[in-house]
Amino acid sequence: MDKLKIGIIGAGYIGGLHASVLVLDDRVAIAGVYDVIAERAAKLARSSGATVFDSADRLIDSVDAVYIATPNTKHTELALAAIAKGKHVFCEKPMATALDDARAVLDAARPSETVFQVGHNRRFAPVYQTLKRMISEGSAPHSAHIKMNRGELIEPEWVRDPQVTGGFLYETTIHMFDMVRFLFGEVIRLDAIGTSHEYPETDDFSVLLTFESGFHATLASSADAGWMFPFERVEVFCHHRTIVTREMESITCSEGLDGRSITHSMHKLSKEEKWGYTQEDRAFVDAILSGASAAVTATDGYRSVELVDACYRAVRTCEPVRFA
Ligand SMILES: NC(=O)c1ccc[n+]([C@@H]2O[C@H](COP(=O)([O-])OP(=O)(O)OC[C@H]3O[C@@H](n4cnc5c(N)ncnc54)[C@H](O)[C@@H]3O)[C@@H](O)[C@H]2O)c1
Repeated sequence: MDKLKIGIIGAGYIGGLHASVLVLDDRVAIAGVYDVIAERAAKLARSSGATVFDSADRLIDSVDAVYIATPNTKHTELALAAIAKGKHVFCEKPMATALDDARAVLDAARPSETVFQVGHNRRFAPVYQTLKRMISEGSAPHSAHIKMNRGELIEPEWVRDPQVTGGFLYETTIHMFDMVRFLFGEVIRLDAIGTSHEYPETDDFSVLLTFESGFHATLASSADAGWMFPFERVEVFCHHRTIVTREMESITCSEGLDGRSITHSMHKLSKEEKWGYTQEDRAFVDAILSGASAAVTATDGYRSVELVDACYRAVRTCEPVRFA
């Protein structure tokens, strides 16, 4: 059987990481790489046995599936171009940095016969897979506290520019907006306060989320808190039971009132597996080859953009946002 031909647009950190996973999958070949900085494309092409292309369009024409791994505000145009040409698309998060753009991608992807997957890798991380399983077992959870900090908006250089990120929440915290839907279902109301400290944009948020089920959660996210471990944590509160994650490293569950707890550590896994990158790339290829739907759909991508957009709106207007 011919190998699935994959093209990578954006040969930076995450483009390289996906390439390093995909070269180990003998069902696929990395056929092409394109980057606005030609040397980066050449370097990644050398290490993955691919051809360098001099335009995104020509690359898209020559492959079966495209990875979009460019900075955030460059995703929509490339995603629409690849969908229009009937290609399978893996689009890094965020799917878009404005609600209209997210809607355009959703509308284009929905009727398409091809696979469109969004890079919300946390869903595949063993820590969060374990958390989801624990939530479905035992006493039902009633609330949660979630934290996602970022150390700085300095590296890579474009993350300090909201014209390129769409804003801090689109770059970093969107992972947790997707995660709350994955774990707790649909949000019906969002309240938020945001302030600006180190950067010209709003860089510190406190968010209150109410879910369809009556479940509620707080989400705190700061853009310049330093990289103290764990910069990402979910605490879920149930009857005489608390479940706590520490980044993608470990998960602890306490049972009863005598202080006992059990910790599952993921420290023996590679970073690519711990963070779910290996599994999300495999799921993308599986879906293409089996004709199944994507594990993280354009609707999921849209909903996470919708929550980020609502959060900025709630901060701007000092009013809650309600979802129909
Ligand atoms: N899912 C995750 O855990 C995760 C982790 C890191 C980054 N990301 C996302 O991946 C994307 C890339 O982030 P990164 O850290 O790899 O950034 P990066 O700066 O390391 O790489 C981006 C690359 O895209 C290139 N580029 C810029 N505009 C382009 C265009 N129009 N066409 C082709 N190439 C272009 C740049 O030259 C650069 O080489 C971002 O959207 C980011 O949010 C996701």
